[in-house]
Amino acid sequence: RIAGPCSMVIFGVTGDLSRKKLMPAIYDLANRGLLPPGFALVGFARRDYANEDFAEVVLDAVRAHARTPFRQEVWDHLAEGIRFVQGTFDDDAAFATLADTLAKLDQERGTGGNHAFYLSIPPNSFPVVLDQLSRHGLAKPNGPQKNANGGQEPWRRVVIEKPFGHDLTSARELNALVNRVFPEETVFRIDHYLGKETVQNVLALRFANQLFDPIWNANYVDHVQITMAEDIGLGGRAGYYDGIGAARDVIQNHLLQLLALTAMEEPISFHPTQLQLEKIKVLSATKLVEPLDETTARGQYAEGWQGSDHVVGLLEEEGFDPNSTTETYAAITLEVDTRRWAGVPFYLRTGKRLGRRVTEIAVVFKRAPHLPFDQTMTEELGQNALVIRVQPDEGITMRFGSKVPGTGMDVRDVNMDFSYGEAFTESSPEAYERLILDVLLGEPSLFPVNAEVELSWRILDPVLDRWAADGKPEQYESGTWGPASADEMLARTGREWRRP
Ligand code: BG6
Repeated sequence: RIAGPCSMVIFGVTGDLSRKKLMPAIYDLANRGLLPPGFALVGFARRDYANEDFAEVVLDAVRAHARTPFRQEVWDHLAEGIRFVQGTFDDDAAFATLADTLAKLDQERGTGGNHAFYLSIPPNSFPVVLDQLSRHGLAKPNGPQKNANGGQEPWRRVVIEKPFGHDLTSARELNALVNRVFPEETVFRIDHYLGKETVQNVLALRFANQLFDPIWNANYVDHVQITMAEDIGLGGRAGYYDGIGAARDVIQNHLLQLLALTAMEEPISFHPTQLQLEKIKVLSATKLVEPLDETTARGQYAEGWQGSDHVVGLLEEEGFDPNSTTETYAAITLEVDTRRWAGVPFYLRTGKRLGRRVTEIAVVFKRAPHLPFDQTMTEELGQNALVIRVQPDEGITMRFGSKVPGTGMDVRDVNMDFSYGEAFTESSPEAYERLILDVLLGEPSLFPVNAEVELSWRILDPVLDRWAADGKPEQYESGTWGPASADEMLARTGREWRRP
């Protein structure tokens, strides 16, 4: 799957995301031979760069963050198609120059009128940029002229990064705004978790095997725990994070997408609309379990130790309001109202400055209905679990009881592991590589559509409202596993969080 001739314009090209993820991913795609010879990268920003200066910026980013080895000939070819347009978003002349630059690239690089616009910018800049793209005729291919590549209609696509609003109402407004300029089938919303191999593998695990589906339901599953724990703090990210918090930052998108893939029914095919249909169905059936003060928890990290490093609390981090009520830890309980999942709680949690960085989906099974052992023999037997290790140490663990070697009949939990590193020699592309390639290919499967975004806000809004009214979140010590109220939340149902 090699993309056809096209150009990609990045707005916000001097930002962190662009430097750490987008530019390196573009180089890695080129290096893997997945970009067409006629590819162009256009940066748009306020800074005054000549094309060559900008190419240097890209080169620095590539050298610092690319996954694949540096190859001069690949770089030289890519660099020939790098351009820079200087301007602010409200600068009409700059957009006229952009239109001009793209038209010239169509001639020089044969990009054929195919352009993707990547908005790596704060959402409050969306209206003006979308308006400019529309007014300068960039959002829609002009006229039915054929391009150099197989006589196809040229395409235009827009790529947007979260936050997709901050609640259901604002998400609807944002979707309407985007869709006024770009029809939904040309909108690619990035949820980079969907670009991860281990996340896509949830579908392979569930739907390529006979083994799991018979037990993937309320008859056998006791509960599901979806964890995204990070050890990093929020130093340097106040501008984005203060007032947003953990639930909006990652539960609304990454974790609800993980839930959707874990809980959805089998799509009738892997056609993008079929996948979307099943995700929309399962998200429509998902809701918070009440009462919220017993089934949710939130916290804010205080100072503490991360390994041998002493770290400060959120309120002392640069740029945060010292009275900030932004949560850095959030846990919620959801139910999925379908025949398959009736009565099975889905616990979702995420936090910064936790014990370690780990993302996993743990499907925890009910206990066997009868144990023909003396009670003393099964004291070390827990509940069976299937753990999808999203990252790091990507793989899957099956946890089950096994006889302890010896003359007795004691049973103890053991792990059976599948690990990507051992099972495959193929390397995993970085999430952004896969997603950028899919944008250029016009392959929408891994991008949430507006209905999914709106449903996710519908699920989350009640708890966000509740927390907004509640005032300060509970403090937890950095380097621990979060606030005590999160443990109490599970203890109330006789369960406990895994300590991965
Ligand atoms: C982003 C969040 O979407 O995901 C960040 O905004 C978070 O707060 C990041 O740190 C984590 O991504 P990954 O791929 O490292 O798990």
